[in-house]
Amino acid sequence: MSSKTVESKQFATLQVGLGERAYPIHIGPELCSQAGTLVRETLGDFARTVVLVSNPKVWKLYGAGVESSLRQAGIQTFSFLMGDGERFKTLRTAEKLWSFLIAERIERKAALLALGGGVVGDLTGFVAATYLRGIPYVQIPTTLLAQIDSSVGGKTAVNHPLGKNLVGSFHQPALVLADTNTLLTLPRREWQAGWCEALKYGVIRDSLLFERLEHSLPFPTRNCTNWNETAQHFLTDIITRCCEIKAAVVEADEREAGERKILNFGHTVGHALEAVTKYRHFRHGEAVGYGMIAACEIAVQLGLFTSEESQRVRVAVHQVGKLPPASQLDRARIIAALRHDKKAEKGTVRFILPTKIGAVVERTAPPDDILETVLQKAL
Ligand SMILES: NC(=O)c1ccc[n+]([C@@H]2O[C@H](COP(=O)([O-])OP(=O)(O)OC[C@H]3O[C@@H](n4cnc5c(N)ncnc54)[C@H](O)[C@@H]3O)[C@@H](O)[C@H]2O)c1
Repeated sequence: MSSKTVESKQFATLQVGLGERAYPIHIGPELCSQAGTLVRETLGDFARTVVLVSNPKVWKLYGAGVESSLRQAGIQTFSFLMGDGERFKTLRTAEKLWSFLIAERIERKAALLALGGGVVGDLTGFVAATYLRGIPYVQIPTTLLAQIDSSVGGKTAVNHPLGKNLVGSFHQPALVLADTNTLLTLPRREWQAGWCEALKYGVIRDSLLFERLEHSLPFPTRNCTNWNETAQHFLTDIITRCCEIKAAVVEADEREAGERKILNFGHTVGHALEAVTKYRHFRHGEAVGYGMIAACEIAVQLGLFTSEESQRVRVAVHQVGKLPPASQLDRARIIAALRHDKKAEKGTVRFILPTKIGAVVERTAPPDDILETVLQKAL
């Protein structure tokens, strides 16, 4: 099975080919107002009841629209609001949601619907994976990062006090609706974080995508109240291309036994930066931005990548906007943190490194003195 994109007048549709777990991703404007029809069409009987999960900020912006579209399609709705932010992606919030579902007597022929960024999406997916041993869920991602990354691929998780995303499962959504109009209200930092992840797809798999971003960022250049047609096409195209790449990687390796690891490009140093700053200084994508610059520099040191291409990646990352400063951070602590990355296998840290823009390989981490030099240059 392979991913396939179909362009319709209003939105693009991409099919994630995972056999009986296959699902469509629709990308384009005005999808929130079509949610009822699309949910009914895709989920059939399971769409009799839908529990919307969101946070107060996103709910205020888009909740009423999605809810009324579902109701107009004859779907019974409930809503559950969780706190806004990473610190609410916990078992405690999951337990509140399980309790809500039990109290409302939500049965198997019902679905959850995540309306929000990656935090809402990951938590909703986790609860859908576990409630009554698994019920379907729909993703309506409202951040760029969630539209190009977290809503696709079925990784669901909550955080544990000892680390991020340590408790979770693989549970694919039944449907993803990426409404580009929801991005009109996205704060600048969230754009930056999303663009860094979009650049990641370019470096690991698609030099043309990378070039296109190189020539278009920063985007948007100012606050917009409406996308013009060019902007709308640009966003739909880029989000579709990123989802196609993610879908193809997930189709080849749903449970990260091998190829899916390429999606971790930039994440080894990225996670370490987040850990040493206690997840307060960087948005995840911004830390990945620095992580990509560092990975490119390691690849140059190992003779895998040219310094010209590495410089292109550095420039593109900084083009997303003003990243929080990182030069003041203690490099020895960053190296110690990356050596404890949860993805280390038998104590060996591995990096995804580019060989050219559009292709990557996996290698073990270089010695600490090289890492020190690399971090000095990258941060
Ligand atoms: N499952 C996966 O494969 C995967 C992949 C990458 C990241 N993630 C997870 O995703 C999470 C990060 O997601 P995120 O970057 O979307 O952060 P987020 O969900 O915290 O959203 C960022 C902020 O933007 C606000 N927001 C969301 N949509 C908005 C909109 N349209 N307008 C205005 N404000 C809006 C949110 O309320 C929040 O304050 C992390 O928990 C990370 O672990 C998961």
